[in-house]
Amino acid sequence: MSVKVLFVCLGNICRSPTAHALFQARVNIENMADKITVDSAGTGDWHIGCPPDKRAQKTALAHGYDMSHLKARLVTSDDFAEFDYILGMDKENLRNLKAMQPDNYQGVAGLFLTESGVTESEEVPDPYYGDAAHFEHSMSLIQHAVDGLLARIKRDHQL
Ligand code: 4NP
Repeated sequence: MSVKVLFVCLGNICRSPTAHALFQARVNIENMADKITVDSAGTGDWHIGCPPDKRAQKTALAHGYDMSHLKARLVTSDDFAEFDYILGMDKENLRNLKAMQPDNYQGVAGLFLTESGVTESEEVPDPYYGDAAHFEHSMSLIQHAVDGLLARIKRDHQL
């Protein structure tokens, strides 16, 4: 059985698909795709079925990551039965996740940066109403965190 990781933001079109694509790339580079499954979802339903935001895709492509195949979906309480790590990009995402978390959930529901060992910031701020610099900032925070997350998961599960 693989370890399952779900990245969550508000719209599932900017931050969480970026984390999804970057983390999947790290997992693939380490030949661990059979051991770690990656997905992303949003707490809001406005963009269900849509590919990532054009600005997020452009930023990701500039860093070598194609995420055009991803499609937004809503996070549901069923995800807690499936995923070992459910990681919100900001505190509002985490509040929404905690509100749907079953009492008997055995996994980790927390902030993506904190659970990845990043201490400089707790949140990946929402870039949706921002400009290219905000998207670059999200990308840089996410890039900084994915290695720490992979190291933590390997440690937690002796992979
Ligand atoms: P995300 O960004 O949560 O990083 O995907 C947003 C995308 C869409 C909206 C807000 C944030 N929206 O209000 O539609």
